[in-house]
Amino acid sequence: NAMLQWQRTGFHFQPQRNWMNDPNGPVYYKGWYHLFYQYNPDGAIWGNKIAWGHAVSRDLIHWRHLPLAMVPDQWYDTNGVWTGSATTLPDGRLAMLYTGSTNASVQVQCLAVPADDADPLLTNWTKYEGNPVLYPPPGIGPRDFRDPTTAWFDPSDSTWRIVIGSKDDAEGDHAGIAVVYRTRDFVHFELLPDLLHRVAGTGMWECIDFYPVATRGKASGNGVDMSDALGKNGAVVGGVVHVMKASMDDDRHDYYALGRYDAAANAWTPLDAEKDVGTGLRYDWGKFYASKTFYDPAKRRRVLWGWVGETDSERADVSKGWASLQGIPRTVLLDTKTGSNLLQWPVEEVETLRTYSTDLSGITIDYGSAFPLNLRRATQLDIEAEFELDRRAVMSLNEADVGYNCSTSGGAAARGALGPFGLLVLADKHLHEQTAVYFYVAKGLDGSLTTHFCQDESRSSSANDIVKRVVGSAVPVLEDETTLSLRVLVDHSIVESFAQGGRSTATSRVYPTKAIYANAGVFLFNNATAARVTAKKLVVHEMDSSHNHDYMVTDI
Ligand code: FRU
Repeated sequence: NAMLQWQRTGFHFQPQRNWMNDPNGPVYYKGWYHLFYQYNPDGAIWGNKIAWGHAVSRDLIHWRHLPLAMVPDQWYDTNGVWTGSATTLPDGRLAMLYTGSTNASVQVQCLAVPADDADPLLTNWTKYEGNPVLYPPPGIGPRDFRDPTTAWFDPSDSTWRIVIGSKDDAEGDHAGIAVVYRTRDFVHFELLPDLLHRVAGTGMWECIDFYPVATRGKASGNGVDMSDALGKNGAVVGGVVHVMKASMDDDRHDYYALGRYDAAANAWTPLDAEKDVGTGLRYDWGKFYASKTFYDPAKRRRVLWGWVGETDSERADVSKGWASLQGIPRTVLLDTKTGSNLLQWPVEEVETLRTYSTDLSGITIDYGSAFPLNLRRATQLDIEAEFELDRRAVMSLNEADVGYNCSTSGGAAARGALGPFGLLVLADKHLHEQTAVYFYVAKGLDGSLTTHFCQDESRSSSANDIVKRVVGSAVPVLEDETTLSLRVLVDHSIVESFAQGGRSTATSRVYPTKAIYANAGVFLFNNATAARVTAKKLVVHEMDSSHNHDYMVTDI
């Protein structure tokens, strides 16, 4: 359907057609970044013949599509080659573990290895002849046992360990659980007696991810490989904490928590019991699920991939012939200033796509107004903004909007004393359609400020078959931070926003009908009633497309 082609992106990863979901087995191998992904070769909706799509890149931005890496062709994965992870062994070879859905729809774990280690493109994969290597253990439901993590090496007993997610209703508390196995050869596995973690009330944990982040010094600017976080005796090294992330099947969000890993005890404990996996922090407040990190040895960083699904109707997806994007890969670091959250930031390579830049820094915008930015094109953008609220106005208020909540307080149209203000993207000139990315500051009687970072989809499209929400949450702002920053990636039908250096993020799929091509614009807006806002920095970069190189590669 040509009419809907404008929804395709210029610089986000997507297959040429059909359905995609989770990122699988991301890894750097012989100079190439590999991305595998859940793919339905038969159409634009999820189905029971999910295969592994495959693409390679030199820079995480320009991708070349390769033939399917694995298809459901064995009794143990005939109902789907599901999500899995890559492990790089000390000699450089790869082990890929994935979930197979068997002919009886039992979830089993399977091993696959490259058919030719010398092929940097890893075009062909060999499934181990003894598959499956793991069945659901006693007490775990046959359909609640999936998505093995990348393995890490534990020197205390010279075994590799993996985590698999599940749920446990035995005590009637609907708990999500993380189960650990150890193995020497990726073929024989032993279940460890204790759970790595368990959180009541959170339900099935899909796509667990488990990795260290550095807490101090120069090291905190780099990623940490999982195996490097354990000393020779098997104890966790100093200067790291471990992130546990799970995708909550119940509410379809990716939740993470920071914690202490005790390898000997096979236990992980959150630093803050109030912010446990599934009850506290999220990677992203919008549409972002089944994500997975990998350690990139080339740039010594940890990179996060996340599946960004559609929020239009299945019928629309079928008619356009494709569904889903991957978010721009994000580097992940601990926020050493707060110590209590991660920082996510688009990989630096995305900046190579910046072409024409417009610098509008210094604009002050009065309360109650919207200001159109004079841009050439506005469908593919990378926007950098830093806002400052008029300090005197903030000081003179006694109290403002203490009960504010992004999702229930009326979005970008509802005015308070110190918000909302920010950007309207993919907006037509009459503002009939607009996606608002904004801050909203609340002030308590004690003088304390709470900054909310929100994204309002409710007027993003005049189409009515779309889920439109206001998403977001409070974002930490430290006393010495005088500005509020936004980075917004706009790409036709996706708006991916990073607040305050990546402390909080929100991703929306949007489907404007008017604000497309040359009719799309950006506005600066300030709907506060009591304070002017200055955009101390406002730089809008037009973005080149990265899909020029999209073709099937059989040899390079
Ligand atoms: C998450 C998920 C995984 C599963 C895969 C199947 O989106 O449900 O748990 O392995 O997708 O496609």
